[in-house]
Amino acid sequence: MQSPSADQLQIFLDIATEAALSAGAILRDRWGTIESVEEKRPGDLVTEVDKQSEEIIIKILNRHLPDYPILAEESGIISGTRERYLWAIDPLDGTTNYAHGYPASSVSIGLLIDNIPYVGAIYDPVSDRLYRAAKGLGATCNRRPIQVSPTADLRHSLLVTGFAYDRRETTDNNYAEFCYLTHLTQGVRRGGSAALDLALVACGNLDGYWERGLKPWDITAGIVLLEEAGGRVTAYDESPFDLQSGRILATNSNLHGMLSRSLLTTPPLQVWSDLEAMKNLGEKEKTSPD
Ligand code: IPD
Ligand code: CA
Ligand code: CA
Repeated sequence: MQSPSADQLQIFLDIATEAALSAGAILRDRWGTIESVEEKRPGDLVTEVDKQSEEIIIKILNRHLPDYPILAEESGIISGTRERYLWAIDPLDGTTNYAHGYPASSVSIGLLIDNIPYVGAIYDPVSDRLYRAAKGLGATCNRRPIQVSPTADLRHSLLVTGFAYDRRETTDNNYAEFCYLTHLTQGVRRGGSAALDLALVACGNLDGYWERGLKPWDITAGIVLLEEAGGRVTAYDESPFDLQSGRILATNSNLHGMLSRSLLTTPPLQVWSDLEAMKNLGEKEKTSPD
């Protein structure tokens, strides 16, 4: 199959941007006014703003590009004849933050072509930051080029992660990894918006991100942004990234091997109740270069 031209990608990017800004305007107007919050399952919230935001995004995408399939968090799959393409949209990434008035949420619009992330637009309505990228065209924040951090030592890094909504139903819930990486680094943040987490790694404000249990709408746009900013995205074990696995390791590139090894050798949670066992943990993972 032929790759899309730079001109085509620019058109897709401009459409994604229009949709992200229009939806972002709704998020900004409704900020602090949410009254009714539904729970899809314990901890997984949805507000009327999620739905309004999604409605306007779908309308704009359909107006410019009828027949392009869409995968939207609240509506599911909307089929179309242009089967090489799939818009992956999260109308409000960080609903829990948004519902509580904690300022970290975004609109995320990504385009997959032959299952590969090609275009991404992420908009944070509270900080008024627009992140954009397309394969081969670079990555920007508010139209200025962005670049990942140069951090090359895990001990000097600041990371971010998240916990999926099934965290109470599985022991593969990222709690052990969170403790271990907190131990090895300057800190691990729990941002609450996967798209923004990836955007902040792309900007060099954070050095790496990992998470499990993610959906294509959470990360498609952010992956393009990070790769275009010089970062690297793989599975935890550095094998090629698989969008369906829900598991992502995304870093500034320099830390990739160290972070991968740490995730693969994470000790069980019991270690943190034993001071002796905690000593010298992870010396190798922290320091050995790739
Ligand atoms: C969630 C956020 C969060 C991540 C969860 C996602 P939502 O999306 O991205 O950071 O940890 O796994 O489901 O529900 O706010 O759109
Ligand atoms: Ca999400
Ligand atoms: Ca969402």
